[in-house]
Amino acid sequence: MKLRPWGLCLIVGTALTSSVFSAEAEKKATSGKSSARSASEFKALMVRNLQSWQTLDPSNAAPYYAKEANHVFFDIAPLKYAGWSEYADGAKKLLAGFSSLKFTLGDDVQTHRQGNLAWATASFRADVVTKTGAKEALDGRWTVLWEKRGKDWLVVHEHVSVPLPPPPDTAAQSLYKRLGGYDSIAAVVDDFIGRLAKDPTLGKFFAGHSTDSLKRIRQLVVDQLCEATGGPCVYIGRTMKESHAGMGITENDWKIAVDHLVATLDKFNVPAREKDEVLSALTALKKDIVSSN
Ligand code: HEM
Repeated sequence: MKLRPWGLCLIVGTALTSSVFSAEAEKKATSGKSSARSASEFKALMVRNLQSWQTLDPSNAAPYYAKEANHVFFDIAPLKYAGWSEYADGAKKLLAGFSSLKFTLGDDVQTHRQGNLAWATASFRADVVTKTGAKEALDGRWTVLWEKRGKDWLVVHEHVSVPLPPPPDTAAQSLYKRLGGYDSIAAVVDDFIGRLAKDPTLGKFFAGHSTDSLKRIRQLVVDQLCEATGGPCVYIGRTMKESHAGMGITENDWKIAVDHLVATLDKFNVPAREKDEVLSALTALKKDIVSSN
């Protein structure tokens, strides 16, 4: 199950294992403060921080954070919180929808310290049960930066994020899908036929057709293009030879029609690859449509 990208508010609570959550850390957790120095102490501080969020009450997390308004906290959503009070408010709203939250800190915690600054990175898993009973889970990453204030190490910045889903394998998709499906194809055909009918040279071919007859041609062209590009439609019209026989469509008429199609495809920002594929499908019909020089 996927977790909505709710502002994780570093709600990164923890189903932290007991080995990580040492007795000593537990003792320090009661004050919410720490004078962490070693890697294991920073890790224990992370655990306590996460546990505080697991209570679903931001006031329990407050002791871990610096309170200056210019400290930015990046959560999964929204884009950012400026200052602890904004962070706590946003988190409170989000947490109000949860009935439980559990965090599991990854075994990849890395901590670093330089003087009065320290930072850590870790992956985590969050398991949420919402008040509606829905279960959601999310794998994310957490970067946290502390500054030593007196004997406490306070979070002055943190960044919680989740990886983007992999891009769809568009190369393997049908041209129909890559063009955007039925609605996109219908929009392209409407624009193209509109241009043909309004063209000073080609308009004569469409003159005299009733609105209904033009709609029928439009629908047949949509079906034809939909089928030819790998879509779910079935073309039930006549062959190109039958339907254009005797019209006297010339090479020049054809060239004008192709220019209109290019203009239509450009108008809809069809990418070069798809544009080429549509145009070569069209070229294959030329011999059956053009009947005069
Ligand atoms: C210079 C270019 C073209 C002109 C002037 C033209 C003109 C026409 C006209 C006037 C009709 C109506 C025929 C009738 O009343 O029975 C028609 C039908 C049709 N055209 Fe074209 N056409 C052109 C190119 C194309 C192209 C490129 C396609 C395909 C993408 C196409 C697909 C169709 C279809 C599907 C029909 C309806 C067939 C049927 O009635 O069963 N035409 N065309």
